Amino acid sequence: MGKETILLCGANGQLGTVLSQVLVDKYGKENVIISDIRAPEDSNLRFELLDILNKSALEEIIKKNSVTQVYNLAAILSASGESKPMLSWEVNVKGYLNILEACRINDVSKIFYPSSIAVFGSDAQKQFVPQHGPLNPETVYGIGKLAGEQWSNYYHMKHGMDIRSIRYPGVIGYESMPGGGTTDYAVEIFHEAIEKQHYSCFLKKDTQLPMIYMRDCINATLQIMDAPKEKIKVRTSYNLAGMSFSPEMIAAEIKKHIPAFKMEYNPDFRQQIADSWVDSIDDHFAQQDWAWKPAFDLQAMVTDMIKNLSEIKMSDLKKNKVETLKTETNV
Ligand SMILES: NC(=O)c1ccc[n+]([C@@H]2O[C@H](COP(=O)([O-])OP(=O)(O)OC[C@H]3O[C@@H](n4cnc5c(N)ncnc54)[C@H](O)[C@@H]3O)[C@@H](O)[C@H]2O)c1
Repeated sequence: MGKETILLCGANGQLGTVLSQVLVDKYGKENVIISDIRAPEDSNLRFELLDILNKSALEEIIKKNSVTQVYNLAAILSASGESKPMLSWEVNVKGYLNILEACRINDVSKIFYPSSIAVFGSDAQKQFVPQHGPLNPETVYGIGKLAGEQWSNYYHMKHGMDIRSIRYPGVIGYESMPGGGTTDYAVEIFHEAIEKQHYSCFLKKDTQLPMIYMRDCINATLQIMDAPKEKIKVRTSYNLAGMSFSPEMIAAEIKKHIPAFKMEYNPDFRQQIADSWVDSIDDHFAQQDWAWKPAFDLQAMVTDMIKNLSEIKMSDLKKNKVETLKTETNV
């Protein structure tokens, strides 16, 4: 492997904050450029303020730094997209096309494009949805992700570009907060359970959705990007499974750790989005082609989330106490 220079777009979001650190650990701080339309609050990484809708700025950064790999995490997520459909299309499709073009012109050797379970519509097989089934998404986010998958395949066929993609399920992690998706409840629930022993869920109790733990999600991303080129047979986007559960299933699991935890259900507009999605995923192509295997099921994920989040909240509490004490002493 020669010297790699990585550009991560949309690096300040739920996944980007975790992936940027992992890529820095793998490739070195000087070889990873993180970028977003918002500057990070606190980061010592190489950062560029970059809107993926600004095609010339994108091309310049790629050219100037001789970028060899681009990870495009910039997006407007499902729930936010329904209230801003035109912006969703602009960023998720036109922004991605800007990236593909800038990469083509500058001979970028590898691109990562995250798709989503939102590409499946309500006519898809609900249980263990196959890789090659009907794709009739009913959200602007799903329509955009499907267009992105097709553009990836087109640039691969037409220009031989090495674009790799995964249909991520809802991602759960303690490291960062989600950014406007339909599966956000599965992260919020932990914060509220630890702080208030209570959570009001915006989905019905039996709404089963495919999910994945952050560590598995990041591992899958590195694994597909590191796989030999000839192993990547699906050039639209790979189905990927982690676990599947409903709000009442995760609540029951959390209750084992926090017995006082109580959940109520107040479904909102996100219920309709969730109802159009599938329950679980058949990912045997990812298993077969690049040896995908998740490490976390529901039980292991809940145990790890509560352990890590409780530690973070405890140290935040201590830090706040020290800060308050300092301010009081100063006064
Ligand atoms: N989080 C999930 O559960 C999930 C599930 C399926 C797919 N995905 C996909 O994974 C990717 C990352 O998701 P995430 O959860 O980190 O999203 P997020 O909303 O947390 O982060 C997206 C980032 O993109 C940035 N952004 C928005 N518009 C931009 C623009 N024009 N130019 C540059 N940056 C811009 C935002 O500032 C934000 O930091 C997205 O493509 C998303 O669709 C995520």
